[in-house]
Amino acid sequence: MEQLEHLREYLDMCDKMIYDALIMRNKIVEDITEYEQSHNIDIVQLEQEKRKRDHLKIISDGEKHQAEIMNVFDAILQSDKKIQAKTLFDCNLVLIGFMGAGKSTISSTLQELFAMDVIEMDQMIEEREGMPISEIFAVHGEEYFRNLETNLLIEMQSRKNVVISCGGGVPLREVNVAEMKKNGKVIWLTAAPETIFERVKDSHNRPILENNKNVGFIADLMEKRRPKYEAAADIIIHTDHKSKIEICREIVVKVLL
Ligand code: S3P
Repeated sequence: MEQLEHLREYLDMCDKMIYDALIMRNKIVEDITEYEQSHNIDIVQLEQEKRKRDHLKIISDGEKHQAEIMNVFDAILQSDKKIQAKTLFDCNLVLIGFMGAGKSTISSTLQELFAMDVIEMDQMIEEREGMPISEIFAVHGEEYFRNLETNLLIEMQSRKNVVISCGGGVPLREVNVAEMKKNGKVIWLTAAPETIFERVKDSHNRPILENNKNVGFIADLMEKRRPKYEAAADIIIHTDHKSKIEICREIVVKVLL
């Protein structure tokens, strides 16, 4: 019995050491992030994470509980990303742009890089309404859908340090833009109409494009909407011929300017 009590005490001591090490580690992650930021060093360093994971695999090789150790470190590496994002961005990142501009793709890349939560507005509306957007338009009409967008945007302003991926029509209403700007940096992703066409031509969940999938219609509607996107945007990113990582790098640089 006495032995069991000793073992429990040792375990508590270990927990305290892990706790102290984590506090120290988190501070180092913050310091590295701030150093990189103030010295204009690329924040998106994919090799660092791989290097760390490989190193941990090597040093834990042959260890009885290697898988469990790696799981813990995976969680630590994820929390590093969150700490990095919190240190860098004191706001939400709000992605706007025409259908097919890459909002969803770039949101999930930002999520991979910084472990930030993503609010995918279209998806959330579909889940809540229990039907795809095309059906919401058909059953309730566009105005109803636009009201859902506005309400969701207002609701999301209570969230901090998240990526909000807006539907393409969200910036068309002034009230939406005002909501986005309350605690978000608004990032406008753009692309050439030809690029947009290539990206949307096989999808069937965009009622506005469903019978209009041609470059001419897309170019006209983009032009019509341009002043609204322009008025909303804090940052503009041209996405043509750029990789997902290049686009995210550009976003980080411009958000931190
Ligand atoms: C719309 C864009 C769509 C979706 C709806 C209306 C628009 O979102 O919200 O079909 O008016 O531009 P994506 O931009 O994510 O395709």
